[in-house]
Parts: sequence; structure tokens; C-alpha cells
Amino acid sequence: MKDEVHVQPPVGSVTDRVMQGETPLQAVGRSGDLPATRMRSIERFPYYTAFPFGWYRASDSEDLAAGEVKALRFLNRDLVAWREDDGTAHVMDAYCAHLGAHLGYGGRVEGCELVCPFHWWRWDGEGRNTRIPYDGSQNRAARIPAYPTIDRNGYVLFWYHPLGEAPLWEIPEIECFGNPGWTAYQRFRWQMRAPWQEFAENGPDYVHLRTVHGSVTIPEVELYECEGYQTKLRSRVDFDTPRGSQQGRIDSDAWGPGFALARFSGIIDACFVAASTPIDFETTEVTHSYSIRKLGEDSEALSKTTRVGDALIRDLVKQVEEDLVILDRKICQPQPRLSEADGPIVEFRKWAKQFYLEGDPRALNR
Ligand code: FES
Ligand SMILES: [Fe+2]
Repeated sequence: MKDEVHVQPPVGSVTDRVMQGETPLQAVGRSGDLPATRMRSIERFPYYTAFPFGWYRASDSEDLAAGEVKALRFLNRDLVAWREDDGTAHVMDAYCAHLGAHLGYGGRVEGCELVCPFHWWRWDGEGRNTRIPYDGSQNRAARIPAYPTIDRNGYVLFWYHPLGEAPLWEIPEIECFGNPGWTAYQRFRWQMRAPWQEFAENGPDYVHLRTVHGSVTIPEVELYECEGYQTKLRSRVDFDTPRGSQQGRIDSDAWGPGFALARFSGIIDACFVAASTPIDFETTEVTHSYSIRKLGEDSEALSKTTRVGDALIRDLVKQVEEDLVILDRKICQPQPRLSEADGPIVEFRKWAKQFYLEGDPRALNR
């Protein structure tokens, strides 16, 4: 084991550490290559027989320039994300409906069309063929599966539904994004060997904040609501700071399985935008983007924003590292033995269940 303890806790962090230094799980996570689980996802998470429907991150907005095509692998599929010259983003299956070339390798954007590298058939953002250049015709029946796509809050998001249903909810605009009063995103990305649901269950699992993350105080929950496709968690929390404890809030919302927002206030206002996209049934990509409300515009206020904001972000990133030690190796207990003092795990699971629908050919043989 590497000796990495005795790191000073960050100033103004959300959690007050139990130990002066790394938490035990952080130390375990950093101790080198931990063996991965030998169990397959279907054994560990028997509920995960289908990819849940929802809005998923395909790309960070800034990573998909106008006129660019990118090959992606999500939901057990090869996909392409591309952006029209005028800025509109699209996500489609990667394979051309003509003779199956991968559009992400050599495909090019011309205006509002994606041109296949093989025989130059042209496709619009809905996956319709617009022109076969060498005979001047158009194949109206040819179709490449395309996903409703939006570019919002700094994310290119696509809607996935196993039966091809239109989006069932919207993703709201988040105030911190593109707002000069807030800092630009700091982005972090992880691959997790577990489905979104295991990560999301962390929200209502308040106890682990103390046992995994070393928080001295646990948020006092005012409201936990699972309604429709959304969850809402409203809580008051005492942040521990070098100058004593300070009251604040953590409020989080999730819109389906793929997109969530947590807002912190008290020491400093922060937004943390979380996205998870299944890569396949074994692995999920998790992206966190952090933004801090500037304490002012002068250099002193800006440097304080950076100092306090960075400490908070470091702490949140540390929390993910700790969580992943558990999540990468845990199973789902279908009938968990719970304590009275546990958070509303059962309620969360009931809500999560609604997103799994069979019918996706890429999810067969689970
Ligand atoms: S395979 Fe795409 S045009 Fe022929
Ligand atoms: Fe956690």
C-alpha cells in the first residue's frame, strides 16, 4: 500500500473528515490496482435487464464543434454524434443504411447533412436519406436510427427509448451554465462498473455520507420526493469550516436516470451537474461538471471563489473516488435488511424501476 495519508483536508470542504487526512476508502482506492469483481453485471444487478429510457450525455458541448463527426460507444451501440455547420447537434446509430460503413470514420458534415465516407450517400439529422449522389435519386425508405438530441447546459444529450417513444420529459436549463456570474465548468469523468442506479441510490443513502465520506454532520432532509420521472431532495446541512460550522443547503434533482443537478449553498454557491450514460451492461460513464457562483468580480473576490470553490470540488471528487471503491464491487441486495435510520432506499428503488422496459434488440441475451 502506498503511503498517502496526512493530506491536509481542504479548506471549507463539505465534509469534515473523521481522520486528519484521507478517509479509509480513499486510501484503499488509491492504494493501487484493486482487483475488479469477477461477477458479471447481470449476477450483481438482476434488475438491470434493459437500458433505462431517458436523456443521456453523448458529449460535452465544447467537444463537438460545428461540422464535426465523432464515433461513440454507448448503450451497447456504435453511435455517431455530429454537428451541422449551423450548430445543431445530432446523435444517430453509426452504420450507414446503404452498405454499412461506419459514419464516424471518414464521414463528413456538409451543411445540415452527414455524408457517408463509402459511397457518399447523404443523411439528414433524422437519419433520412436525402440524396444518392451517383444516381441523383433519394431512397425514401432508407433510415438510420436517430435519437432526439438537444444541446443544453453544456451537454449534448440524446433521448433513448427502447420502443422509440418520443421524449417523455424535458431537461431544464440550469442557471449556472453560460452565466457570467458563475465559473466555467470543471469537468471530471469516471468509468464505473455498475449501473446508474447504484450511483443514484447514494442520494437517499444519507448514512454513507458519514461512514464513507467522513461527514461529521449528516444533512437534515426536509423533503424527498419521487414524482413521475423526477426526484427531489431538499436538505439543510451544517458545513464545517475552519471558522466553525455554517448553515447551508444541498438540494438535488434528477430527471430520469441520465441527468441530475445538485446545488450547494452556504459557504459558497455551487452547481454540480451529473450525467451517467451506460456504455454497456458492465460499465457506465459518469461525468460531473462543477460551477461556482463568483463572490464578486474584483480580483480578490475571484481568487477567493477559486480557493473555496476548488476546495469544495476537490471534496466532491474525493467522494466519487470513495464511492467507486464500493460501487465497482458491490451487488444489489434485492431484499435489503434496512435500519429505521436508513434513508428512503425502498422508495428510490420503486421510482427507479419504471425506467426499465424490454424491447431493445441490443439488450437481448441478458
Ligand atoms: S455504405 Fe454508406 S454510402 Fe454506401
Ligand atoms: Fe457518495
